[in-house]
Amino acid sequence: MSGCHVNYEISSKEIELRIKELSQEIYEFYNSKNVRSLYFIFLLTSSFIFASDLLRNLSFYDLKIKTDVIAVKSYTGTQPSEIKLKLDDLERNDLNNKAILIVDDILDTGNTLKQVRKELLGRFTPKMIHFCCLLKKTDDLRNMDFKVQFIGFEIPKIFVVGYGLDYNGLYRELPYIKKLKLG
Ligand code: IMP
Ligand code: MG
Repeated sequence: MSGCHVNYEISSKEIELRIKELSQEIYEFYNSKNVRSLYFIFLLTSSFIFASDLLRNLSFYDLKIKTDVIAVKSYTGTQPSEIKLKLDDLERNDLNNKAILIVDDILDTGNTLKQVRKELLGRFTPKMIHFCCLLKKTDDLRNMDFKVQFIGFEIPKIFVVGYGLDYNGLYRELPYIKKLKLG
């Protein structure tokens, strides 16, 4: 990965290789806990490409996976805004006593995952709940009382797009991740 802030980019090959590794880490983690069935819940919209690649890699392992989504909206342009969650669809599942993996594209302030965790734990009593993000931004001020177990790449605190990540709905289709350049 080029660590340069100006031309920051993670290539599609780097993403592909890291997701392969991540799927193995995830499998080994659950295997060590004797978990054979997993609820894989990914956050819409921006994690849809990451989640589908991760899922296909997980299919090579001995895990029974059920998939669901939570729609989240928390950014306007490059600025965090009020977090809105759409959890109603989850009511069709009984998540009590289940192993849940929440999958998102990027960990920035941590507010989205905090909110998702709070809402889920308000409705269900899972056996365990863990988190996986493709990207994690450097942030000394992040204030979370739980850990994100699986991280693909740590990146500088810059706004990035591509591979599902957007700027006002744009650039999700890029097969790589790059720093947003405005103007
Ligand atoms: P958090 O709540 O601050 O951790 O932000 C998480 C959400 O904000 C992610 O799920 C992304 O959808 C969005 N987000 C944060 N940083 C970026 C970025 O650099 N590019 C695109 N979306 C971002
Ligand atoms: Mg997101």
